[in-house]
Amino acid sequence: RRHLLTIEELSLAEIEQVHATAAAFKTILKRSVKKVPALRGKTIVNLFLEPSTRTRMAFDMAAKRLSADVISFDAASSSTTKGETLRDTAENIQALNADMIVIRHAAAGSPLFLSKILDIPVVNAGDGAHEHPTQGLLDTFTMKERLGAMKGRKVVILGDILFSRVARSNIHALTKMGANVTLVGPSTLVPQWFTELGVAVSHDLKSALADAEVVMLLRIQHERQASSHFPSLGEYTSMFGLNKTRASWLNPKAIIMHPGPINRGVEIDSELADGERSVILEQVSNGLAVRMAALYLCAGGQPEHVTVVE
Ligand code: CP
Repeated sequence: RRHLLTIEELSLAEIEQVHATAAAFKTILKRSVKKVPALRGKTIVNLFLEPSTRTRMAFDMAAKRLSADVISFDAASSSTTKGETLRDTAENIQALNADMIVIRHAAAGSPLFLSKILDIPVVNAGDGAHEHPTQGLLDTFTMKERLGAMKGRKVVILGDILFSRVARSNIHALTKMGANVTLVGPSTLVPQWFTELGVAVSHDLKSALADAEVVMLLRIQHERQASSHFPSLGEYTSMFGLNKTRASWLNPKAIIMHPGPINRGVEIDSELADGERSVILEQVSNGLAVRMAALYLCAGGQPEHVTVVE
């Protein structure tokens, strides 16, 4: 597969192939090997037209660890501010001989659009409220490292599901992996129609948390919420924010996840985000190896060539 656009279109075998390749890269990096020559001579352009800290830096680092040349597009100082379209921007990047584009964009479907007009691989680094495939891959990679096989595991995703590309990518990955996913939050942000994706929907936080093995928290994305019928941050926190009392409803072995950025004191209290059950920074660390795997495989790399010699 040349592009990485969504997890929805990946098979379970392809998800497992990314995980296995990421695990091999992670082991290689642990041995103080700073770089592998896998993508030497390739140029990767990170075309981020929405803000990002983790994803952008992880893709930058991943490309460098693979020995690729990487160019980070600076949207604020680019000709997009003069009205240049996404199509023209991408075609000009391709004309400069880039070998791959990693794109983040506010419009759902923009990576698919680029994949249809360009001859080079396109990797989706988050498109609107649609998908964030490498986030779903790194989240499920982290869960597997902590819990083993995910078949039958109970995962609660709590928060703003409606506007969350992270939720959609995790739902597709986890259901393919056989996990039991329950979406929790206010009915305006967690509508019943999500059950069509093969998940449960609940508005009862206490009962949902009781048997969860993973609870993944999501930020309330006010920047995407145009209507006033969504709860205010204060209303959300009072009903669904994860605090010490509500965390006591969880199994002590349950892990707490968050893709970042965190709004401390809104969807999660600091003592839980920084507590021993939190794997939030492990997710970030795993994002490097998972993005190395994504870039390597989209560039045509063979997974069997990423081997760890004991
Ligand atoms: N999780 C995530 O996508 O974070 P950034 O927006 O900082 O990249």
